[in-house]
Amino acid sequence: MKHKILLVAGARPNFMKVAPLLRSLLADGEFSPVLVHTGQHYDDHLSGCFFRDLAIPDPDYHLGVGSGSHAQQTAEIMKRLEDVLLTEKPDSVAVVGDVNSTMAAAIDSSKLGIPVIHVEAGLRSFDRSMPEEINRVITDAISDLLLVTEESGRRNLRNEGIPDSRIHLVGNLMIDSLRQSLAVACRSDILARLSIDGQPFGLITLHRPSNVDSRAHLQEMLLALAEISRSMPLFFPVHPRTRAQLAGLGASLPDSITLTEPLGYLDFLCLMSRSSLVLTDSGGIQEETTALGIPCITLRENTERPVTIEQGTNVLGGTHQETILAAWRNVLEKPKRGSIPPFWDGSAASRCVAAIKAYFGISKPAAPLVSVAAFA
Ligand code: UD1
Repeated sequence: MKHKILLVAGARPNFMKVAPLLRSLLADGEFSPVLVHTGQHYDDHLSGCFFRDLAIPDPDYHLGVGSGSHAQQTAEIMKRLEDVLLTEKPDSVAVVGDVNSTMAAAIDSSKLGIPVIHVEAGLRSFDRSMPEEINRVITDAISDLLLVTEESGRRNLRNEGIPDSRIHLVGNLMIDSLRQSLAVACRSDILARLSIDGQPFGLITLHRPSNVDSRAHLQEMLLALAEISRSMPLFFPVHPRTRAQLAGLGASLPDSITLTEPLGYLDFLCLMSRSSLVLTDSGGIQEETTALGIPCITLRENTERPVTIEQGTNVLGGTHQETILAAWRNVLEKPKRGSIPPFWDGSAASRCVAAIKAYFGISKPAAPLVSVAAFA
């Protein structure tokens, strides 16, 4: 009997993690995966486009929950997913990342007694005002197998009392997708579509509620970005949450900042890999810029991904005009070269599969399993 594993994805940053994991589970032959899309993200440019770009098969279930308050969205996912779990009776449920779909699926599964595997476990910003931090802490507390992307994840989980036997450093699935897709992404015509003709340019992404929901705050960040754009044009694919706030601001941005719709995975990867600087509040983009060796200024006061600062190309720019500009001047004077963190090598998915097989006693591990003890 194959091990039935249900994979849950719901929002944009989940899809590039689920794609390589699903592929490796299928290739292994010992698993019968069931893919569930919660529908937390539903616009083509936040969801459908990623399924096409990453060649993810159509989900077996689409829950169509849509947007809502945190409570409404989480509750709706829990209600609809419970029916799927009762029908499918999977042997385990794999959740990725830190979005509401991740936490909702983990709660449902653990209450039904189904073992939960959390991929990208242990990351901590220690900032409970971030909805993602709440999702991370809760998901990890009720997960059975915790697969971490960086050493800090193991440390944080150990500090929270989780035994080493349930923690494995597997590397970063997002970097698996990046490595698999980069050559194809480089053939995108996005540079021509945006009339970028070889001159250095920077890229902005902003969508955290803490940055964009307060207009005064957003306005201040835009002043810093406008200043930076005087030395290099900036391109800004705008998340729907941010688009709504910008419309309310009524402020016009300088011509040196070009707004676009949110971009698909391949277009964005192409643009990022050719950019000279990325300014972002995204979690995943901090990791992708480190993997690509592109300087990144994170527009936040903290990060749950410290390895991108300790080893990668990331620096914290804060969220105030002066701190952002100071970080930018530092990057100009002393650009970080950075190095690739351990196991961000494109093989994280096979390590995930090996860890899952070892944990559930499914034949032999598919690849050498790296014990966290080796990094203690
Ligand atoms: C969610 C995740 C965040 C992740 C981000 C990536 C949580 C708590 N947050 O935030 O961690 O970094 O996704 O984008 O899970 N909307 C659309 N189309 C869509 C989806 C949403 O227009 O397909 C609009 C709706 O107005 C919605 C708003 O965007 O209310 C926010 O969407 P939501 O899924 O609640 O959170 P994100 O800000 O996208």
